[in-house]
Amino acid sequence: MTKSNEVLRTPDRGRGVIARYREYLPVSESTPIISLGEGGTPLIFSSRLSAIVGRGCEVYLKYEGLNPTCSFKDRGMTLAVSKAVECGTVAVICASTGNTSASAAAYAARAGIRCAVVLPAGKIASGKLLQAFAYGAKVVAIDGNFDDALLVVRALGRRDDFAIVNSINPDRISGQKTAAFEIVDDLGDAPDFHLLPLGNAGNITAYWAGYREYRDAGNCTSLPAMLGFQAAGAAPMFHGRVVENPETIASAIRIGNPASWEAAQRAVQDSRGAVDIVTDNEILEAQRWLATHEGIFVEPASAAPIAGLFNCCEPVRGPVYPFTQIREGSRIVCTVTGHGLKDPEVMVDRATKLTAVAPNEQEVLRAIGF
Ligand code: F0G
Repeated sequence: MTKSNEVLRTPDRGRGVIARYREYLPVSESTPIISLGEGGTPLIFSSRLSAIVGRGCEVYLKYEGLNPTCSFKDRGMTLAVSKAVECGTVAVICASTGNTSASAAAYAARAGIRCAVVLPAGKIASGKLLQAFAYGAKVVAIDGNFDDALLVVRALGRRDDFAIVNSINPDRISGQKTAAFEIVDDLGDAPDFHLLPLGNAGNITAYWAGYREYRDAGNCTSLPAMLGFQAAGAAPMFHGRVVENPETIASAIRIGNPASWEAAQRAVQDSRGAVDIVTDNEILEAQRWLATHEGIFVEPASAAPIAGLFNCCEPVRGPVYPFTQIREGSRIVCTVTGHGLKDPEVMVDRATKLTAVAPNEQEVLRAIGF
């Protein structure tokens, strides 16, 4: 190990991203701030991932599962709901693969306004669905996928009754760009590479906007290459065409027609990055690796960039972004977007294999098996 497993985190965790970065956000004195203390998440140095990449590279994990509703969505939701309340909106609506709905429901509850979420029936991880109910949202399941749900929500958003809080709302993107600010604040400059999962493509768009804005403000000198990872069965940007029936275990990114496709494509091109794919098996392997080697339990979608990083180091598979293009001494940040407890189903098999033993020292020792 070249360096201890340091955790970088700015001291003002808990203030919320609007309070911390308001000069970069579209708020004024009259904007009511609806916050749950989101942002300020740790940037964790991983000595083991750094050693796997080798050649003096440093790998950091931006642990977004530690936001109030346990995903990165809270950064954008605080702003989208604050602006909605400022405009006198009485109800917000979104389509979701789960995390946006959990976040919208929580911030709407905090604001004292109504929330409706439109979800693909049977396709939402149980923890996320439970959150939407717990926060009191009106939950509607549709017989269709996320892309169908977003079409319905776009149509409903044309009425006066609802403000859409999907990432097609620019306030969501504005709020989410604060994650890039935090990374620069923690590292002292931008990283060389930024890896993240790619679903509806809002987050990669937001990070790229954040890095550029921070550079223009003189807070960093360089910009990272943006590398987005889609699941092999839900990879419209990788293939360059809409996927009618996206399928992956990583339900958060089971999306066939991303709303921010064009903006994300520009981010990838302008940053000289890439879009690549990872298989469901690679995702599950990476999820397990991260939990058992770093103590960081993420949901499957969040493991996609870790799987992608492993592939970058594995020239035989021929990833879009081979290891040889990662310069010596590079600083690499992977955003892990959501907490593993949101999607317990993928772990249940192992957890339920537990059989009880007699309550004595010998039996328990035997069961430990060290
Ligand atoms: N990771 C997680 C945990 C997500 O929930 C999402 C998106 C992504 C990554 C992809 O981010 O869409 O900005 O490219 N979830 C959305 C939702 C679609 O409805 O919760 P993106």
